[in-house]
Amino acid sequence: MRVLVVGSGGREHAIVDALFRSPSVDKIYCAPGNAGIAAQAECVAIKDTDVEGLKAFAKENAIDLTVVGPEAALAVGIADEFRKEGLKIFGHTKSAARIETSKEFAKELMAKYDIPTAAYKAFDNYDEAVAYVEARPLPAVLKYDGLAAGKGVVIAETMDDAREALRDMLLDDRFGKGRVVVEDYLEGPEFSLMCFVEGENDYPMPVAQDHKRAFDGDKGPNTGGMGAYTSLPFITDEDLEFAMEKVMRPTAKAMVQEGCPLTGVLYGGLMKTADGVKVIEFNARFGDPETEVVLPLIDSDIANVFEAVATGEKPAEIVWSKDVTLGIVLASKGYPGDYAKGFAIRGTENVDGVVFHMGTAVKDGELVTAGGRVLFVVAKGATLADAHRKANEEVAKIECDNLFYRKDIGHKAFK
Ligand code: AMP
Ligand code: GLY
Repeated sequence: MRVLVVGSGGREHAIVDALFRSPSVDKIYCAPGNAGIAAQAECVAIKDTDVEGLKAFAKENAIDLTVVGPEAALAVGIADEFRKEGLKIFGHTKSAARIETSKEFAKELMAKYDIPTAAYKAFDNYDEAVAYVEARPLPAVLKYDGLAAGKGVVIAETMDDAREALRDMLLDDRFGKGRVVVEDYLEGPEFSLMCFVEGENDYPMPVAQDHKRAFDGDKGPNTGGMGAYTSLPFITDEDLEFAMEKVMRPTAKAMVQEGCPLTGVLYGGLMKTADGVKVIEFNARFGDPETEVVLPLIDSDIANVFEAVATGEKPAEIVWSKDVTLGIVLASKGYPGDYAKGFAIRGTENVDGVVFHMGTAVKDGELVTAGGRVLFVVAKGATLADAHRKANEEVAKIECDNLFYRKDIGHKAFK
């Protein structure tokens, strides 16, 4: 197979790496890719949302299968366009991707099909939103309805905070003209459950947990994710069964009934509350950085899984390693705020483990920082304690003047 992967981050590096291990793949292209991906795939300079450019490339290069990383590409209809041309693609249609791109669509779907989630209401009017928040217990969770690069969620502890956030989103149109979903605040440990989904069929991957805050002890601003690990001691087999039977499978079925079947990854951002597992959010794609800790554990040929989902067939049984992984993000100082780029990175070749590139470039023959999140070091072990120790030892081998990382990834599992 000749495979094209769309995207340029650590998630796409992990997808490329899993395809690289596949015996049925001869050639991997990645558009646009990054400096690390270039070691395993041929990077082509086409933007991930340039559907016409990607389609032309796939045709000219006899691509057998395209795998989409980012939601932005799904949101502009890459899967619809490829399918129209008879090109095989792993990724949801624009209409199915609404499960991520529209919070209101996702919440309405959950309400209609009894999928457990926080009570909510959607607003486009500032005064009505304020009145609703006033009538509910605090804290209130305010979510901008649309893609806001992870910055569209505010947990308001006070009415003043709530008014300010609603003003931002509804009166000042900080993320554009849009609606806001106001929902009740839930409590409990969060975890990510990703499934390969084809129509009504869900095939779960190992669960993982992300770390959204920038600094140790879950302090500092929210980020795209500073680390992740698999094997969560506080999520039992019963929790997983509940999550599959009450959340993931009913959601796949609901999407079929709504006329927009899923054909890619369904990511459940879930919370284990006192009343059972509930949905915090759905994503229509692989999570980042969860994918970087999950895909190194696949023992099956991932190309066959992608192909089966893309063509509406049942994949052969998917086998996962019993090992545990833990990964640490190295981010540019200042991230998730402003940061400088172009700092030399040394020592990645000394790391015993996997180093996924999230935002790097090569300048004058030297590896340099080129994004907010820069590298992701993943260690494998028989236990989480092993993986934690090893990841921390290995991450320390990377030298760069402008990177920072968290030393406590996995801390919730050790409590
Ligand atoms: P989201 O973009 O919907 O995943 O929200 C980002 C983060 O906000 C989540 O990972 C949670 O930590 C938090 N969050 C979102 N919704 C709720 C909720 N209803 N209750 C408590 N925390 C929430
Ligand atoms: N790790 C969270 C996400 O991919 O949205």
